[in-house]
Amino acid sequence: MSSTTAQTTPSRADRPRPVPSRSRWPARLDLLQSLSGLALGLFMWGHMLFVSSILVSRDAMWAISRFFEGYFFLGHSVPWLVSVIVAVVFTLFACHAALALRKFPASYTAHRTFRDHLHAMRHEDTTLWYWQVLTGFALFFLASLHLGTMLLRPDRIGPFESADRVWSDSMWPIYLVMLFAVEIHGGVGLYRLALKWGFLEGAHPATTRRRLRLAKWTLTAFFLVLGLASLAAYMRIGMQHAPHYGENYVPAWLTGVAR
Ligand code: HEM
Repeated sequence: MSSTTAQTTPSRADRPRPVPSRSRWPARLDLLQSLSGLALGLFMWGHMLFVSSILVSRDAMWAISRFFEGYFFLGHSVPWLVSVIVAVVFTLFACHAALALRKFPASYTAHRTFRDHLHAMRHEDTTLWYWQVLTGFALFFLASLHLGTMLLRPDRIGPFESADRVWSDSMWPIYLVMLFAVEIHGGVGLYRLALKWGFLEGAHPATTRRRLRLAKWTLTAFFLVLGLASLAAYMRIGMQHAPHYGENYVPAWLTGVAR
């Protein structure tokens, strides 16, 4: 009997364990979360510019609202076109929220540990991340309420219609909280995206981080001031228009009557 036959089958314990192949799904989901966050962040910049058109004039806000209803292409308004846009944004928002849930501290212990870590480290970016979690949680509810309203009543967007909702329907406290939540959440989100994916990276990481932080706070301050000024304008128009609640705004050049 030759020496080779003497070899025994290695026992289970001696066999090399198969190395589990690392799933790429967590990285893919992170990328999807970043991309959906980027899309929503850029959407909000456009959204705030459209909403703040009330600061230019009531006619400007009326024209932008009608534009999204196809008025200047079709010759008449088709409000459900806005519902289609809202449905796309709502789907993106829901996907982003579902992807972000993976990062939430999932238990009291995890939350407690994170809080202790936060207080021990006093690291600005970690604190900013915690604010992003808190504002994201608030947006689950506040933005869903707003998106639901826009989805079901796209025909009630305009200088008087929006002002009636903000003032007479008492939506202004919701908008006030939501404005701070979305600007803090979006600002921190875009800042973390730029850091994570190396956008605008310079030769010195510390300088890049400092510049990105400055850009983040400047943009957040700009959109907060713009949002607060717009909200104040809608509230003022809503107060004046309260006796005519529900009346649609029609620009002077369509009726020949000054508004
Ligand atoms: C396509 C989807 C959306 C549409 C059509 C839309 C439309 C509007 C309109 C017309 C207003 C003016 C007030 C009113 O009419 O009630 C408004 C205000 C506001 N929206 Fe949206 N919105 C959309 C999505 C969002 C999302 C996703 C967020 C946040 C996550 C958001 C946050 C706000 C805030 C904070 C205000 C108050 C702005 C201010 O300070 O005056 N909106 N939106």
